[in-house]
Amino acid sequence: MENFLSQLPRLKLQNDAEEVSKGPSSTKDPERELKQGHLQGAFDHEDAHMWPETPPAEARCDSLIPAGANEAVLEKLQDKVLKEVGGAFSCVLGVLGDRLGLYKAMDGAGKVTPAELAVRTGCSERLMREWLNANAAAGWVAYHAPSETFELTAEQAMVLARDENPSNLMGLMEVAASLSGTHLETLASTFKSGRGLSYGEQPVGMARGIARATATEWEALLVQVWLPALGDILEEELERGGKVADVGCGFGATTLMMARSYPNSTFVGFDRHELSVLQARAIAKDNGIEGNVSFQVSTAKNFPGDGFTLITMLDSLHDFGDPLGAAKHVYEALADGGIWLIVEHLTDGKLSGNLTNPLARVLYSFSTLVCVPNALSQEGGCSWGACAGEAKIRGVVEAAGPFREFRRIAESPRHMVFAARK
Ligand SMILES: C[S@@+](CC[C@H](N)C(=O)[O-])C[C@H]1O[C@@H](n2cnc3c(N)ncnc32)[C@H](O)[C@@H]1O
Repeated sequence: MENFLSQLPRLKLQNDAEEVSKGPSSTKDPERELKQGHLQGAFDHEDAHMWPETPPAEARCDSLIPAGANEAVLEKLQDKVLKEVGGAFSCVLGVLGDRLGLYKAMDGAGKVTPAELAVRTGCSERLMREWLNANAAAGWVAYHAPSETFELTAEQAMVLARDENPSNLMGLMEVAASLSGTHLETLASTFKSGRGLSYGEQPVGMARGIARATATEWEALLVQVWLPALGDILEEELERGGKVADVGCGFGATTLMMARSYPNSTFVGFDRHELSVLQARAIAKDNGIEGNVSFQVSTAKNFPGDGFTLITMLDSLHDFGDPLGAAKHVYEALADGGIWLIVEHLTDGKLSGNLTNPLARVLYSFSTLVCVPNALSQEGGCSWGACAGEAKIRGVVEAAGPFREFRRIAESPRHMVFAARK
């Protein structure tokens, strides 16, 4: 039998929100009525015990298992999917907690009651209680039953409250949460049309989430580990006064880190996404890093300038619709002996090689919703996705021009780093 709910016309998500906000038409308050005794005694009827103590099989959910299904396999799958649906809800709660400063207010505060959290953050006590209950059920905050209080442990604070901590996952959560809601309609029509969806057509929270998700890793590794791994000659040139392009710079974190470390060199961050470039400029201004850095809207295939000492691409090459066109342009724009640094997700080019990678689920999901639609929205006909793997990268480097050298110079738990020398 077909589920009649599947026949319902799909409602516009915005209308759903309107309907909810209108609220029920009834003015009755059952909770108050119950307190006043209006509903008490409703079950004190002589027929109250007319039903059997144990419900018959057909009244239990066993009858919902379709014939031919393996019950154990079905249950295991349901458990898995249910946990993940819970995770999707948790992301929304997590981002709300971040927006409202709830985790930060709990960080180092010890045991708190919902009322205390409400006072600290200026939020509704009732909603604080439910938010804390949900976080406790997810294992994201600790619950102390005897005192009915909640606590953010040091580890939970690292993941949820402290932006500067490398274990913080709030950026990724913001990306995930931004891709739900009304945006689902846009994504659905993209899936039908195959026309793609550029960064500019995604919610703003998506680009901001990406910037937050990677900044701590870049901060720990780019200037301290990866640039030194490129050799003394580059280091000396950057100390003396080199010219650097950061292509697909997003909010400009990496451009700014390098500019701060090498004040005699000049840095330009290029990105196709105008809003990211505007954000990068604003962040540079706020941090007083302006003399040797600028940001421009430009694509990877035609950013201006030549004679670059170093061209960096962090998590961006796989997003381009024409990675080979970009690679050829990089070759032309580099000075003789100049270096192209490519940082990409640590993955295998093949699905079978990625299935045991704990990051694969997040990467393939992100790639389906962001990277591939973005590449499809551009000219070029390529859409590598976030799990591109080494072979594709090596392929475009080799095809772009006679680079003297191409090597994998480093690896982090999440990324692999390549360098090509002209
Ligand atoms: C995953 S984000 C990485 C941003 C930044 N490098 C970071 O690590 O935070 C990829 C960036 O590439 C940019 N991008 C995508 N296609 C581009 C193209 N064809 N030319 C230049 N930038 C592009 C996007 O706008 C986005 O900012």
